[in-house]
Amino acid sequence: MPHQPIMFQKPFKAEGSQGFRQNLSELLANQQSGLTLQQPFYNSPEIYRLEVENLLMNRWHCVGHVSSIPKAGDYFLFEFDSESVIVVRGENGEVHAHANVCRHRGSRICSKQSGHANGGVLVCPYHAWVYKLDGSLRNARMMPPEFDSGSHGLKPVNVEVAEGLIFLNLSDEPREFSVVAEMLSATAGKFGWGDAKVIHEERYSIDANWKLALENQVECYHCGPSHPEFSRVHSQGRPNTEQITEQTRAARGEHGIDISPIDKWAERETRGEEAVFVERHGMFNNALTASDGGQPVAPLMGNASGYDGLFTIMYVGQLNHFLAYSDYGAIFRYTPRSVTQTDFHVTWLVRGDAKEGVDFDKEKVTWLWRITAAADKRIVEENQIGVNSRFYTPGPYADPIEAKTQRFIDWYLSEMSLAAQA
Ligand code: FES
Ligand SMILES: [Fe+2]
Repeated sequence: MPHQPIMFQKPFKAEGSQGFRQNLSELLANQQSGLTLQQPFYNSPEIYRLEVENLLMNRWHCVGHVSSIPKAGDYFLFEFDSESVIVVRGENGEVHAHANVCRHRGSRICSKQSGHANGGVLVCPYHAWVYKLDGSLRNARMMPPEFDSGSHGLKPVNVEVAEGLIFLNLSDEPREFSVVAEMLSATAGKFGWGDAKVIHEERYSIDANWKLALENQVECYHCGPSHPEFSRVHSQGRPNTEQITEQTRAARGEHGIDISPIDKWAERETRGEEAVFVERHGMFNNALTASDGGQPVAPLMGNASGYDGLFTIMYVGQLNHFLAYSDYGAIFRYTPRSVTQTDFHVTWLVRGDAKEGVDFDKEKVTWLWRITAAADKRIVEENQIGVNSRFYTPGPYADPIEAKTQRFIDWYLSEMSLAAQA
């Protein structure tokens, strides 16, 4: 019997006589609906650059929770692509965000991921220009008398706080944020996230393109094989998820958290606004929360009157996902760092007045999502290695269990078509 011919991926030429945009237009025209993306979308540095500038730069990123910088001068860094931003608590309790770029000769000012600005100032390590927490330049050594310190403050980055969550936008033309604030008020607000506290953070550096990480994040086809611990208490990986969710709702009832359907995610009409999406699901196997055994691991959050065995998933833009269980919350943030490098940041929240060792055991609260996130890093990295192969060709998504991944890809392709024409 003759062998099947091997169909190798046609090499993608970023440069050449036709130019990048035309080659990209041809690639987009060749992309088949219902199949995974062609290889260059996952590993071409030129395509990645276009994505960052045209699809991602004007989005809002959830960079953390206010409880992680309680005192004036507390700061942490947010790193996106090759950019770095200092997020710092100001003298009057406000949250500032400044580009981590000195206005003298451009040095990075803070290099530690988090810390405290001693004496209430940020000092550039190179020639010791001194900035106040609000970003204004306080002192620049040995500069001539005509030097105007008033026009040499740190460049501000757009910052918003909603339900205790800090959001940044690195663009001059940020998308409308009010839709995010409204959605979070109806969801995270009901769980008291504004008064919650961070108990743990993990950063997973994933050697894969950001879209592979996102494709994985929004489907649960992989949950059964890859996340046995998760699948014992969540129903998403099962074929009749909707039915299970309805049964759970009927059996347990709501507990005063009324969430009207919100779906403005990956839709064209949301252009100009940030994209938001909310789902509410039932837990599985009589679990009340996402823990080993499904039993509560922390005090109830917000105005919940009991553990109802339901949980809420919120999406902001493409890169920020949030999970609200009755007793704890989890913030998931993906930040592209290069074409095949993505940071995956997970933050755990509990009730603000809960005491460690008395009301909760940190290991128990974080156990399930530490295991699950580490598995996700591993499977997404294996995915990238396979996609880089000359034997890779686009494969079919399963329907309907990978429907949200398809929806994400459809959104991506429509945005890239616009970018290719721009
Ligand atoms: S580069 Fe910052 S003080 Fe010179
Ligand atoms: Fe996963």
